[in-house]
Amino acid sequence: RFADVAQAPPDPILGVSEAFRASTSPNKLNLGVGAYRDEDLKPVVLSVVKKAETKIVGRAENKEYLPIEGLDAFRKATVDLLLGAGHPAIQEGRVAVVQSLSGTGSLRVGSAFIARFMKGATVYLSNPTWGNHRNIFGDENVEWKYYRYFDADTVGLDFKGMMEDLTAAPAGSVVLLHGCAHNPTGVDPTAEQWGAIADLCKERNLLPFFDVAYQGFATGDLDKDAFAPRLFVERGLEIVVAQSYSKNLGLYGERVGALVMVLNDKEAATRCLSQLKRLARALYSNPPTWGAKIAAEVVNDKELFDEWKGEMRGMAGRIERVRGELKTALDAKYPDKDWSFITRQIGMFSFTGLTPAQASGGRRVDNMTNKHAVYMTRDGRISLAGLNSAKVDYLANAIVDSVRN
Ligand code: LMR
Repeated sequence: RFADVAQAPPDPILGVSEAFRASTSPNKLNLGVGAYRDEDLKPVVLSVVKKAETKIVGRAENKEYLPIEGLDAFRKATVDLLLGAGHPAIQEGRVAVVQSLSGTGSLRVGSAFIARFMKGATVYLSNPTWGNHRNIFGDENVEWKYYRYFDADTVGLDFKGMMEDLTAAPAGSVVLLHGCAHNPTGVDPTAEQWGAIADLCKERNLLPFFDVAYQGFATGDLDKDAFAPRLFVERGLEIVVAQSYSKNLGLYGERVGALVMVLNDKEAATRCLSQLKRLARALYSNPPTWGAKIAAEVVNDKELFDEWKGEMRGMAGRIERVRGELKTALDAKYPDKDWSFITRQIGMFSFTGLTPAQASGGRRVDNMTNKHAVYMTRDGRISLAGLNSAKVDYLANAIVDSVRN
């Protein structure tokens, strides 16, 4: 019966973690998955999370199902974080929000909504983008296309190409935008460029769909990192947002997130919420409780909230520091090459350019992994969250060897 089911390839990101676990090299370094590690390269449970968990356990709450749309305290907290507490859209009841399964689950609910209510719309994804975006929309049979984004020559944003491609997109298309700390490139538009993108979306009637996976994690400042979606709302655009608490609260395995629609009128928000609930019910029924309670506890408690901000700055700061150390080491080992892009990029990743277009055919990444046991994705992305000072020299040697050969 199942003889025709072919073997699926490993996932381009999570498959790297599998390969890393199987490796017996004493030097192995996992720079694949975007998951924060401390200076000992160990996963971290934030102190605010532990405190919130103690409080929740103390309340000895039951394990009843949550409503389909999720935990109310979490839904309020997540919109407050995104737009800023007291935002007019919140006061006017123009926001539809369902708690969902972190970034992927929230994107998937959004994708199902597009498939059902925006039939025939194409979703435009940045080239490149997070490896799972294509699967999420593809599996819902939503057509997707790329818009130009990354300029390999400048190791920066191809803003002109991006604007040309979005100008050519048919009215009613969806544009997937990374709220901050673009994954995998670490290259974001400037404030002015964001303004131009917002104006173009308005002019061309494109629906902006933000993937907000790194709020507070990119710069250590929750408000700064929410600049783009807030700007779009300020300019009168309706937006869809998928939020994740995997990185900023370190709740990876708890699967905490939300799909938010900020609309122009309350009635539309009520109707859209009813449909989001219908989609969620068929996809996973209702979301899990534990992580949402933690997030709500942290955001809604002034003391924990302030402590969380400090912990976020700590994580962002550690990444910033190893970024600088890596650049310094590469400058010393290979001074003829300009490595300044490493410190220009922001967020969790560095897009090393180890696979410029198809030219190297992944050979350089193979060299990194097969010869040096540096595990990374084939697009040339490395997660700096998996690097510490002690390993900077080793990594820099591996990169120089791979670039030279
Ligand atoms: C990543 O990009 O590495 C993370 O978002 C983890 C994932 O699910 O791919």
